[in-house]
Amino acid sequence: MKKTKIAFVGVGDISHTYLPNLTKKFDEIEVIGVCDLIRERAEWAVREFGIPKLYNDMYELFADPEVDIVLNITRPDEHYEVTKAALLAGKHVYSEKPLAATLEKGAELVELAKEKGLYLGGAPDTFLGGAIQTARKLIDAGEIGEIVSAAGFMKCRGHETWHPDPEFYYKRGGGPMMDMGPYYVTAFVNLLGSAVRVTSMTRNTYPERVITSKPKYGQVIHPTVPTHVAGLIEFESGAIATLLTSFDIYPMGSNNFIEIYGSKGAMIVPDPNNFGSPVKILRPSGEWEEIEPTFDYTWNARGVGLCDMAKAIETGRTPRAGYELTYHALEVMTALTTAGDLGRHIDIASRYNRTAPMVAGIPEGKLD
Ligand SMILES: NC(=O)c1ccc[n+]([C@@H]2O[C@H](COP(=O)([O-])OP(=O)(O)OC[C@H]3O[C@@H](n4cnc5c(N)ncnc54)[C@H](O)[C@@H]3O)[C@@H](O)[C@H]2O)c1
Repeated sequence: MKKTKIAFVGVGDISHTYLPNLTKKFDEIEVIGVCDLIRERAEWAVREFGIPKLYNDMYELFADPEVDIVLNITRPDEHYEVTKAALLAGKHVYSEKPLAATLEKGAELVELAKEKGLYLGGAPDTFLGGAIQTARKLIDAGEIGEIVSAAGFMKCRGHETWHPDPEFYYKRGGGPMMDMGPYYVTAFVNLLGSAVRVTSMTRNTYPERVITSKPKYGQVIHPTVPTHVAGLIEFESGAIATLLTSFDIYPMGSNNFIEIYGSKGAMIVPDPNNFGSPVKILRPSGEWEEIEPTFDYTWNARGVGLCDMAKAIETGRTPRAGYELTYHALEVMTALTTAGDLGRHIDIASRYNRTAPMVAGIPEGKLD
């Protein structure tokens, strides 16, 4: 069997999850090369994971005829430049979130991929995990009736406490909505369908943020994006969701990550930044039912969306985490980030037709 050949642009913090997953867990793909502006990082990946090729830069990688898909795991504001150059070189691209730092740039990438007949997809792929797939099946089966409303809460005091180089979280393409919003918006549109209109209020609470992680301990970041976004999303179905994403508040352990309220009950959906955990349903009688995931990928399977795209390329089907999804999510998130300043609702022009659910029971590491 011919394996799809993947090469990494970027070997930073999140590569520590992608590298073991893509080199060991998914046997229909093969990681053949890496590059990073910080060469030692790429050298480390080659050494630790037995990757055959180390490219001097991304252009050398794009020129390699062996590479089928480029995995772009650079920082948000770098996604556009890397993805564009890869598409221009004729490569399929799977990018970390968001698709691009602005809607205009995201639209340009989608047009370029269409023009070139290339696949373009990206993170998050947590919605392909056992938890959200199970929630989708239950909602589609009418277990909690017609969906009236939903709520999502992503609360934290910022990433400068743990990320080794956290400044990008506070610059264009960052902020809690563009960074963590993708998990929630992607889960919402996969559970409830397309979003059609949003509004929000936003603030930037701390003009100076001190890094407490190493090695940049003590350095100060000046955010240029809202760090607290309280949003409302209306869906085509008529359902309305509240979505709070914040880098400014302490989580307290209260609130569920996602709650869905239906005409015949309610549902707690586990953390959309993870893959597993049971779904809980509240019945009209007041009783709770806990439902274990009935789909695979309940571990931290980041990269499953990329492997799904590899399978889609091989078979000619639509990828589950393709640009219809990542562009729709980007439009919702950018609108939620700007609506507050504009003081009005913003209509969402794009639509997302939900792709096929995952198929349970296929051997681990393979896709349908
Ligand atoms: N860190 C996490 O926990 C996490 C989790 C989920 C998603 N993500 C996403 O993954 C992406 C990367 O995040 P990270 O935390 O790994 O960032 P990072 O800063 O740790 O790593 C990014 C790497 O990309 C490299 N890079 C940038 N431009 C390049 C280029 N043109 N050619 C080669 N290398 C280049 C940088 O040198 C750096 O090593 C972001 O989009 C982020 O939102 C991160």
